Amino acid sequence: MNRIRVHLEHKTSNSYDVHIGRDILDRMGLILAKIAMVNRYIIVTDTVVDALHGERVAAVLQKLGLKVDRMSIPPGEASKDIRTVLETAERLTALGADRSSALIALGGGVVGDLAGFLASIYMRGIPCIQVPTTLMAQVDSSIGGKTGVDTVAGKNLLGTFYQPLGVFIDTAFLDTLPERGYRDGMAEIVKYGAIEQPELLDRVAEGLGKAENRDPAILEEIITASCRIKKGIVEIDEKEKGLRRILNFGHTVGHAVEAASDYALSHGESVSVGMAAGAALSVRLGYLPAEDRERLVAVLKGVGLPTMIPGGISRERILSHLKTDKKKTGSVIHFVLLKKLGIPFLNGGVPEKSVTETVEALTA
Ligand code: GLY
Repeated sequence: MNRIRVHLEHKTSNSYDVHIGRDILDRMGLILAKIAMVNRYIIVTDTVVDALHGERVAAVLQKLGLKVDRMSIPPGEASKDIRTVLETAERLTALGADRSSALIALGGGVVGDLAGFLASIYMRGIPCIQVPTTLMAQVDSSIGGKTGVDTVAGKNLLGTFYQPLGVFIDTAFLDTLPERGYRDGMAEIVKYGAIEQPELLDRVAEGLGKAENRDPAILEEIITASCRIKKGIVEIDEKEKGLRRILNFGHTVGHAVEAASDYALSHGESVSVGMAAGAALSVRLGYLPAEDRERLVAVLKGVGLPTMIPGGISRERILSHLKTDKKKTGSVIHFVLLKKLGIPFLNGGVPEKSVTETVEALTA
């Protein structure tokens, strides 16, 4: 098992460990029994993950004499909503959860964001332990303390920065992850390669056959490398005042493509197209050598991710989503661009014409 410590002592949050390995749930129970001053745990999950893993996770803690309850929400993005927060808060009250209780977020990004948010406001904050079950949550959303829910006006409009008490990444959960969810996580791993560690791109490309077969050793290696990169960025800029924004590489155009597809494209697929766009824009503006863009696109394709905007998704809708983004965030969009693979920077002065041309060139 690998252990990565996220050091935040000097900031407003506490430090915590990210544990990574296969079949680490038993050890999770022992670690929690040792570190957490908690009388009872409430596992927050969705109905699909609950059916697959809920009982097993609860049993691990019960075996140690810990009191555990389970609470599930419907799967999918629609649950990332303030109404679900209120409903689950009421269920917590009905269970008698108090300040000596802790939540265990067992699931993907929706569960992690929702349970983290709930934990951050329930009785002014109770501990939350993240147990991510999707590759995307394992390499990204479970680490760094971003929590949030959507409102009709936009995504993650209500949220907090609330660091977990610990993160337990059991790669055995990935055995039951559908192929598409697996590729979604690979998009974020490729992103880490693009913004920080180009060797990770080679590792993904070399280990691809094995990774497709969910080889535990290669998965553990690339997940650990990704978590190390994320933790390094979060330690420097916990509240996303600057550096942390580089984690949004591929996400500006990605979110616009995702919304313009009416969410027919998954988040990872959209971010993949967004990264191809970010790299193409960087080449167009004269920052990135063309061969770096080609290398990135080849790795994305190798993973089975799209790098062009699929036909049927309107360019006008993509551009209009980007404009709405611009209105929300001020007068300019800060694009994350690349000078080289591994050297990202923020650029708030990208001419609209270059964005339009890039989107046009990427439309199939
Ligand atoms: N997923 C981007 C971040 O945590 O900042």
